[in-house]
Amino acid sequence: MILQVEDLSYKIGSTWILRGVSFNLSRGEFAGIIGPNGAGKTTLIKAIVGDLSDYAGRIKVTGRVGYLPQNPERNRDFPISVREVVAMGLYKERGPFKRFSKSEWNRVDALLKTTGIEELGKRRAGTLSGGEYQRLMLARALVSSPELLILDEPEAGVDEMGKSSFYRLLEKLKNEKNMGILMVSHDIGMVFEACDTIMCINKTLHCHTSADMISPEQLQSAFSSDLDLFIRSRDHFEREHRL
Ligand SMILES: Nc1ncnc2c1ncn2[C@@H]1O[C@H](COP(=O)(O)OP(=O)(O)O)[C@@H](O)[C@H]1O
Ligand SMILES: [Mg+2]
Repeated sequence: MILQVEDLSYKIGSTWILRGVSFNLSRGEFAGIIGPNGAGKTTLIKAIVGDLSDYAGRIKVTGRVGYLPQNPERNRDFPISVREVVAMGLYKERGPFKRFSKSEWNRVDALLKTTGIEELGKRRAGTLSGGEYQRLMLARALVSSPELLILDEPEAGVDEMGKSSFYRLLEKLKNEKNMGILMVSHDIGMVFEACDTIMCINKTLHCHTSADMISPEQLQSAFSSDLDLFIRSRDHFEREHRL
């Protein structure tokens, strides 16, 4: 088990944001988190990556974590190259005040290749398109060779073509590196296609099951406050199961 979340609860003032959330994630498992806006998905991710301290419950991570936050901050004018942004992902383990070694740069270049942006290494990061920038953020999240990869709505700003190749890349990483992947997504169709397990979250964990076992009732209970998203997910479900 690479991640264990046990009875996690969090409240702001007197409002519960998360209540009694428990689940485990194994290496080689690709889990998709779905749920309406404001359901607490980003809050859950923040608790797991250590950006939230005052929660109740237990979180145990066994291994290195790579993290691609929701809407990563982007300064288009900052004079930094794509290669340098990826290399900065190494700061956590080696500190910012040492020159990068040849082997560290090799690691960076290998990842630019893996994520399909090797042609862009010398470009100023601010000039990248939405899809290219998400690949850059993925490369940065991967540079410390994490065993657990966490992504919060990585498809934002990525077009349909870009989306499916992005998900294929995640599946490949899962298989080749035996990584555990936890991904929040609004793209229900893609989540059903790419993920092994699905978690429906709306303050509490409404369901957690393998992607082909989920029932319309389970989706309905999680999405009752977000009808539009629910209808889209139900349409997808009916297509998949030819109801
Ligand atoms: N700093 C904060 N202060 C007050 N409310 C917050 C804060 N951060 C998040 N929330 C609230 O917590 C709820 C869950 O937010 P979030 O985890 O971002 O949801 P999601 O990612 O599922 O859309 C929302 O109702 C949001 O408004
Ligand atoms: Mg969010």
